[in-house]
Amino acid sequence: MDTLKAIFSRKSVRSYNGEISEGELKTILKAAYAAPIGRALYENVHMTVISNKELLSQIDKSCAELFQNPQMHPLYNAPLFVLVSAKLNGNADNVGYSNCAIVVQNMALAAVELGIGACHIWGAVRAILQNKELLAKLNLPEGFTPCCGIILGKTNETYTERQIPEGRIKTDFIR
Ligand SMILES: Cc1cc2nc3c(=O)[nH]c(=O)nc-3n(C[C@H](O)[C@H](O)[C@H](O)COP(=O)(O)O)c2cc1C
Repeated sequence: MDTLKAIFSRKSVRSYNGEISEGELKTILKAAYAAPIGRALYENVHMTVISNKELLSQIDKSCAELFQNPQMHPLYNAPLFVLVSAKLNGNADNVGYSNCAIVVQNMALAAVELGIGACHIWGAVRAILQNKELLAKLNLPEGFTPCCGIILGKTNETYTERQIPEGRIKTDFIR
């Protein structure tokens, strides 16, 4: 298994030049469905695969407005944005958010294996949350909140194993 190679090669890709194939999308979605989900409550997670150019452009613009920078393209002109939403549950919201993040990370690792560009996207999700009109266009089932997402697309960038600095995340050991 080359899992560690994929993990050490993953990086955020922010330049895109084409759409992925239906077969590649199917594999990416299968990776999402393979994610661990708290108490196996799969019905508490919802995915929205957005390739509609007009909607992508509206999300991009709304996020650029949020960041007060009309020149920026927070979706990097990627042809696909997969939004992951959760049915949040008051005190147990940490599970809902975590479910979505894990689903996204599974898709990011599958993208490495397929040589597809991918980048976790949280900024645009904030923009969606603040834009009622945009939120309505997503047709989310009742009670679901957008939590995170990932852009995907063909890229000229390649994945090679990176040096991961030891101790980059402060880590305490209690022995
Ligand atoms: C929770 C989360 C949210 C992120 N949101 C964005 C985002 O909105 N836009 C973006 O360009 N990158 C986003 N990223 C990517 C991070 O900037 C990136 O992972 C970090 O700079 C490390 O770089 P690497 O992914 O190449 O290792 C996000 C990553 C995570 C984990």
